[in-house]
Amino acid sequence: MGVSPAPPVRAFAPGRVNVIGDHTDYTGGLALPMAIAEGTTVAVEPGGDVVRLVSDCETEPAIVALDVSEPAAVTPPWARYVAGVVAALRPAQGATGTVTTTLPVGAGLSSSAALEVAVALALGFDGDALELAQLCQRAEHAASGVPCGIMDQLTSAAGVDGALLLLDCRSLAVTPVPMPPDLAVVAVHSGQRRALAATAYAERRAQCEAAEGEIGPLRDATLADASALADPVLRRRARHVVTENARVLAFVDALESREYNEAGHVLVESHASLRDDFEVSTPEVDDLVARLNQADGVLGARMTGGGFGGVVLSVCHAEAAAQVATAYEGGVVVPSRGASCRNAS
Ligand code: GLA
Repeated sequence: MGVSPAPPVRAFAPGRVNVIGDHTDYTGGLALPMAIAEGTTVAVEPGGDVVRLVSDCETEPAIVALDVSEPAAVTPPWARYVAGVVAALRPAQGATGTVTTTLPVGAGLSSSAALEVAVALALGFDGDALELAQLCQRAEHAASGVPCGIMDQLTSAAGVDGALLLLDCRSLAVTPVPMPPDLAVVAVHSGQRRALAATAYAERRAQCEAAEGEIGPLRDATLADASALADPVLRRRARHVVTENARVLAFVDALESREYNEAGHVLVESHASLRDDFEVSTPEVDDLVARLNQADGVLGARMTGGGFGGVVLSVCHAEAAAQVATAYEGGVVVPSRGASCRNAS
């Protein structure tokens, strides 16, 4: 009697925009991302002793051995993320299938996190959303060498329809914050593909760790602690983190009390801090943020994610969102979307 083949598996994982709270996650800080409708689907037939995936946006397939030991050395480059997941998950059997995505790659909408989460689910990951995010964060570290925080993977794994997620990256608590229906998020691509992001990211993280070596956890630090740092660069980095954590809470308060002008003001301040104190913006991104801030119906605009190009986001009055999106090339209204899933109909 033959063994019947395992049934096909289809997994979806959303990308994300981060509404506020950037470069805070890797020091146990606060962030407020939203899982978005755009995302990545991995459909596979389980079986065999390799993972073989073809992608609709890549020319070469990913072919990964189940005992892969160095994900960062795998080619083509996109296969490193698949290899990172295989190395972290060690599935008992391989799989053959396809990757399709509606996310622009390298735009700052977490296409790599969505790929990792969808691959892990398609290869049989079994556990809760936090465990899934942690596994995929390890996969990202192994694949790219970039010491990212947990925001992207946790948002993809734990998204909630119609809500922003208040992430406490120290306790790892995820608290949904309903997005008011009279507001909308519009993302506009700056047209600048993110350059230097990986190198600068690791450097910024190291600077935050150096600051923590002097004044203790940035999550607990005050502005006075940050000002006490002797090195002016570390002082600015720490000041960004301390003020950005406070802005996340101020933004949530402003949303909940429907003080939308205040919410917009907090977004504008966040961008200024990322530009001036954390130095992860670019002139093109700054220019787009400034133009969006002038547009009718926009509460506030800022860079989102790691920085150095990619997408800019704005929070708008819902009735103005479509017009804001069409006024800018590459502008889209981004609806929220729930968590990643396997075999949803
Ligand atoms: C990237 C990382 C995240 C986070 C952001 C900045 O997206 O993957 O962990 O650090 O940058 O907020």
